[in-house]
Amino acid sequence: MQVSHKYDRELGYSSCILVPPARKVPDLAEDARNGILTPPRSLPPKYFYDGYGSKLFERICHTPEYYLTRTEEQLLVRFAEAIMSTMQAEEILELGSGNSRKTRHLFDACEKLRHLCTYAPFDVCEDVLLGAADNLRSEYSWLEVTPLLGDYHAGIANVPKANGKRIFAFLGSTIGNFDPDAAIRFLTEIRECMHPGDGLLLGADQVKDPAILNAAYNDQQGITAQFNLNVLRVLNRELKGNFDLEGFSHEAVYNEALEQVEMFLVSKKRQRVRLEELAEEITFVKGERILTEISRKFTAQGLHAMIEAAGMFVGSHYQPDNQYFSLLLARSGHDCGPRSGIEAEPD
Ligand code: AVJ
Repeated sequence: MQVSHKYDRELGYSSCILVPPARKVPDLAEDARNGILTPPRSLPPKYFYDGYGSKLFERICHTPEYYLTRTEEQLLVRFAEAIMSTMQAEEILELGSGNSRKTRHLFDACEKLRHLCTYAPFDVCEDVLLGAADNLRSEYSWLEVTPLLGDYHAGIANVPKANGKRIFAFLGSTIGNFDPDAAIRFLTEIRECMHPGDGLLLGADQVKDPAILNAAYNDQQGITAQFNLNVLRVLNRELKGNFDLEGFSHEAVYNEALEQVEMFLVSKKRQRVRLEELAEEITFVKGERILTEISRKFTAQGLHAMIEAAGMFVGSHYQPDNQYFSLLLARSGHDCGPRSGIEAEPD
């Protein structure tokens, strides 16, 4: 059941639907306890995105090396009309909507096609969500925006029912942060929310020349390094830690065998760090690493296989000439699709 209750902000008329998690979501204390106290050390990448981290990520998107955002946006500019006219969806539900910048191209396409749809951005930060919703409402007067507040990963099964056909949008290659099993599990959960005719619009970064990938995660200005180090600031603030940011360095390397960029924080020296909130002390030896993110890269084949493993099939695959990035439009396997060309079978 979707227990959706409205929440008023100081203005009075801004509200979000609270989407409860369908399972227990570990907090930073628990993730840190499990992840960094003993080697091999790691932290989930979601902790990058506090207010400052989100700003740094936006700056990363504007660096010349980080082609992902730009390339995906160009694909949306180019194919938004095709996507919206194929889907004829009544609602776009975006998982991890952030500032909703790229999604605008879908609304622009709606305007061109004189097609009405509603927008349900789903994200974890209320202020960002309400800010984005407010901007969109003033920019697209016809657009009904229903912000969904919560952890989209744990809450996907609890999203409110749609009034009609829905597109689930999961952009930015965030799917690359999940290991292969977790990615398929999450896509399967999305599929389980889909009704016949619904679609999944998935953005995913492609395998390419390692030099280009390494550059994308090691920008000249050092913004990615700051972004990576910021997670230590988050630990200091939230868990009363005393990490010295100067004592760690940023490392990001493309692992060709696993087809993923791996991002680490490397201890520059032997050092001790206290986490007051956990009543723990960690000793790092020189060169010891914390894995802070994996960012998987996909082949067209790998993407199709992943979509199929989640019980969907690829309806359209949009990519630029250089094949840097993929936008997939997938459908539930229970749908009638180009494959079968016949009516959907009744369940
Ligand atoms: C937003 C998760 C897709 O993995 O490329 C950017 C985050 N990390 N630079 C990515 C990120 C380092 C980004 N995602």
